[in-house]
Amino acid sequence: MLRVVVCVSGGGTNLQAIIDGIAQGAIFNTEIVRVVCNNPGAGALERAGKAGIESVCVSPKDYGNREQFEEALIRSVEEAKPDLIVLAGFMVKVPAALIRKYENRIINIHPSLIPAFCGTGYYGLRVHEAALSRGVKITGATVHFVDEGMDTGPIIMQKAVEVHEDDTPETLQRRVMENAEWVILPWCINLIASGQVKVENGKVTVAE
Ligand code: GAR
Repeated sequence: MLRVVVCVSGGGTNLQAIIDGIAQGAIFNTEIVRVVCNNPGAGALERAGKAGIESVCVSPKDYGNREQFEEALIRSVEEAKPDLIVLAGFMVKVPAALIRKYENRIINIHPSLIPAFCGTGYYGLRVHEAALSRGVKITGATVHFVDEGMDTGPIIMQKAVEVHEDDTPETLQRRVMENAEWVILPWCINLIASGQVKVENGKVTVAE
């Protein structure tokens, strides 16, 4: 069993896609052992509760400084003894100590085709606003391993999505989620659970 900790900040639709993927048998041999959240108001916490998954909320507001918050965050992840950490809409810069310890065992879903519209300041709806104002015709989503840079780690999978002329950031976000994010994130977790994903020289290969 692959023990997965899912880190979330918001609505948790990607968390839901993982929960459903496990329930429906699209993700084999995998268990979500804990959901870690930095935002006490996140809808993702409700989704975890409904699915009977333990959740822990570590809010920066409850700590005197960044260091204490990061320590608590690391503790709450490590206590659950994960094999894989999934950032599913997690809007916190992951502490470098955790990234070093879990090299190639942390994955992130990003709502664009990296290297477009990624890095500092590009998260959530802002990514889609930027894509629309640049006038791209194709966008999509990327699942990648997390390294110490911002959205710079080895790419595991990408899926393209068409931009429509009358799109708003909200309609585009929804299409990218439905057609790309909720498809490739569960898919990648299943590939990792079945040992098909290898990283060599910063590049990912997927075994058949
Ligand atoms: C998703 O679109 C995810 O790709 C994005 O935040 C949204 C979270 O939605 N993540 C980032 O922008 C990370 N840079 P969700 O809480 O409904 O899964």
